[in-house]
Amino acid sequence: MKDRTSRAYNIADLREMARRRLPKGLFEFVDRGTEDEVSWRNNRTAFERIKFRPRTLVDVSGRTQQVTLFGKTHTMPIAIAPTGTAGLLWHEGEIALARAARQAGIPFTLATGSMTAMEKVAEQAGGTLWFQLYMWPDRSLSHRLVQRALAAGFEALIVTVDGAVSANREYNLRNGFTIPFSFTRRNVTDVLMHPRWLLGVLTRYLVTMGMPRYENYPSEIKYKVTARPMGRSQMKNDSLNWEDLRQLRKLWPHTLLVKGVLHPQDATLAVDCGADGVIVSNHGGRNLDGAVSPIEVLPEIVDAVGSRITVLVDSGFRRGSDVVKGLALGAHAVLIGRGTLYGIAAGGEAGAARALAIFREEIDRVMALLGCRSVAELGADYLSRPEPAWQSAAPAHSALRLLDTARTAAEI
Ligand SMILES: Cc1cc2nc3c(=O)[nH]c(=O)nc-3n(C[C@H](O)[C@H](O)[C@H](O)COP(=O)(O)O)c2cc1C
Repeated sequence: MKDRTSRAYNIADLREMARRRLPKGLFEFVDRGTEDEVSWRNNRTAFERIKFRPRTLVDVSGRTQQVTLFGKTHTMPIAIAPTGTAGLLWHEGEIALARAARQAGIPFTLATGSMTAMEKVAEQAGGTLWFQLYMWPDRSLSHRLVQRALAAGFEALIVTVDGAVSANREYNLRNGFTIPFSFTRRNVTDVLMHPRWLLGVLTRYLVTMGMPRYENYPSEIKYKVTARPMGRSQMKNDSLNWEDLRQLRKLWPHTLLVKGVLHPQDATLAVDCGADGVIVSNHGGRNLDGAVSPIEVLPEIVDAVGSRITVLVDSGFRRGSDVVKGLALGAHAVLIGRGTLYGIAAGGEAGAARALAIFREEIDRVMALLGCRSVAELGADYLSRPEPAWQSAAPAHSALRLLDTARTAAEI
């Protein structure tokens, strides 16, 4: 039987399939932003403000979208971003994502908060594997994860630094979608109304290993999604600082990346601490509402550190054209979060493969229509974009403030 996701012609189609398949609480957990969702919306509209300036009569028949990241060549300029709940969207969804990534010739990042153990992903999927680390207040627990990732053969460590405290996602509370899960009439009805998810995902876990758990957590604190986290050792880490990064640099001998950077000075500090790259990200608009869109600050960050380390970017990339814009603004590659999550929610590994195929076809078409033969050729010259609003507005704003102060002084 033909995979149903082959009828998805773009990422929005996959999103719609995911919406139908998942309980509403779970879909919104994946799909939405935080608070008033200003950053989440801006992550998409920021792309609309950037236009292409194509060149013509260029022979693009030999074009390629290959990129080299940390000494390895990949067939496409994208990687799969870490997403903690992939295993709730599809049974062992992390393995499905990693296999699709290997098949497509791109890296896959496994999140600390995944439902499948890192050793199992390495064994059953293979490919280029990166591991994302959340640092707990008890650093020694996180350092143990680092050692496990090293032993399991992960090639890069991604330290996420944009979540000092938990985000305020009010819709999760309304939907009763909290961790620990609490069973309410509303969310039980929600689950019962989505039998494909109930049977294909939850029931499969229940009959094989019981309630899904955070399988990467050290055994003494490993808990099920229905259980209450065990005290402060597992809370978000509001004391994380640059010294932690220096320490991780000593522990981790391979590629070290810092994820969640939006300021050029932080990118420079990451270089000073020995990082091999930064990921310019606002966590897909899921953490600090009102944070700038990564695509808006990418050029400044590339200017600051792009010649010394690798600059990756994510948040809001849903089309090949978005990816090409990111590359033209200096990113070495783009991470995809929800795009491939919609894919696995809609159809497991085949759905993730479909999402990646959509990106590949779209990137290829845009490059051809732009008159561009390789990622190395892409540059800001292919784009037309407005001055970032705060740069053009700032002088006028400060001038007005000065005028106000002068007026007030005169009135006194
Ligand atoms: C459901 C979900 C779970 C996520 N979990 C994590 C995580 O555990 N660690 C992390 O660093 N980022 C996490 N992210 C953020 C992604 O890595 C990435 O920054 C973001 O999804 C990119 O934006 P996009 O979804 O618009 O592509 C998560 C994102 C989603 C949608």
